[in-house]
Amino acid sequence: MVGLVAKVGLIGCGQISGKYLENAKRFEGFDVVAVADARLEAAQARAAEYGVPRALSVDDLLADPEVEIVINLTPHRAHYDVARRVLEAGKHPYSEKPLTIYRDDARWLLAMAGEKGLRVGAAPDTFFGGAWQTARKLIDSGAIGEPVGALANLHARPPSRPAPKDGEYVSFYMTDFLEYGGSWAFDRGPYYLHALINLLGPVARVTGSARKTWEQRERGGRVLPVNAPTHVSGILDFANGAVCQFLMTADVYATGLPHVEVYGTEGSLRCIDPNNFGGTLFLRKADSADLHPVEPEFGYTGNSRGVGVADLAAALRSGRPHRANGEMGCHVVDIVNAIHESSAEDCHVRLETTCERPAPLPPGLADWTIDP
Ligand SMILES: NC(=O)c1ccc[n+]([C@@H]2O[C@H](COP(=O)([O-])OP(=O)(O)OC[C@H]3O[C@@H](n4cnc5c(N)ncnc54)[C@H](O)[C@@H]3O)[C@@H](O)[C@H]2O)c1
Repeated sequence: MVGLVAKVGLIGCGQISGKYLENAKRFEGFDVVAVADARLEAAQARAAEYGVPRALSVDDLLADPEVEIVINLTPHRAHYDVARRVLEAGKHPYSEKPLTIYRDDARWLLAMAGEKGLRVGAAPDTFFGGAWQTARKLIDSGAIGEPVGALANLHARPPSRPAPKDGEYVSFYMTDFLEYGGSWAFDRGPYYLHALINLLGPVARVTGSARKTWEQRERGGRVLPVNAPTHVSGILDFANGAVCQFLMTADVYATGLPHVEVYGTEGSLRCIDPNNFGGTLFLRKADSADLHPVEPEFGYTGNSRGVGVADLAAALRSGRPHRANGEMGCHVVDIVNAIHESSAEDCHVRLETTCERPAPLPPGLADWTIDP
């Protein structure tokens, strides 16, 4: 149970923290009262920019008795350790994607939270977006009939960036992208997988094939070894029977925008880039070859990162489940690892984790608010 306005701390004051802190001022139901970073000067700069009362060391933020929920915006490889420490401090962690790199770490967080009566939140929360809620309503109302399959693809060669100047902070995207846990499969994959789980439910079986196209690649002015696959492809058998082709690649040139498509017995639905909240959907019905544009019927069509935190705060107050939850984050980590394992071990992988579809948002919900 948290107070009427939940008191939130934020760890990791890098690039995306600005958007969270900007949006936090708009959401009802939570206030950011403290920020922290391994680089205290980064926390101090963000606190000054967004009027956050306290810029602290990580230890001091975790010991702050006012803080109830902690947003974890550290690099992927730090997610587990920071979330574990948040739980040890008796607070609820809400981590950016991926929840962890390895599935056992994710399961451990859930077990620890269960023992302590705490919640685990897991971004992305783009599936709260108006386009995704509209897609969910269309699918649930039978607009495409029974789901048969889906396609989820991201073709994105990362742009070359100049070498950092002396003393300049280097984003983890520069250092970790060619390591296991840093590629698009772990970084962007969760957007696609949370979107698909919202539409279709959990995955039961995974088959994968993954490769690296180069032994070395240029990142931020340096040539680095490629230590993990950067072209990652999977077939996901959903528990409801739908079969999805999933491709996250940094190795090819894009021929179109990233998107998700869902195919059913009575029609097909072309959805938006799952990194976004809003945009036009295109529905094709069985009786016509035309694609009919469908505009979002729900709010949250702009960049509303943080709505998952608002939802967690409301859920803690009322006792209902929160939507961007640790079970879904853990299942997504399991899926991405299973694709790599299937590829390396030449086999299908039947998943041991699962999750519920998050509850749809109520119609008419105003931006920056959430249902109790
Ligand atoms: N950049 C984006 O557009 C974006 C969008 C959505 C989500 N995300 C996610 O947000 C997270 C952060 O991304 P970013 O782009 O802001 O990264 P970043 O590299 O810009 O910032 C990471 C920050 O974490 C700090 N840090 C590193 N290890 C730490 C630790 N152990 N304890 C405390 N602080 C630590 C660093 O000093 C840095 O300030 C990632 O999980 C990423 O997947 C990023």
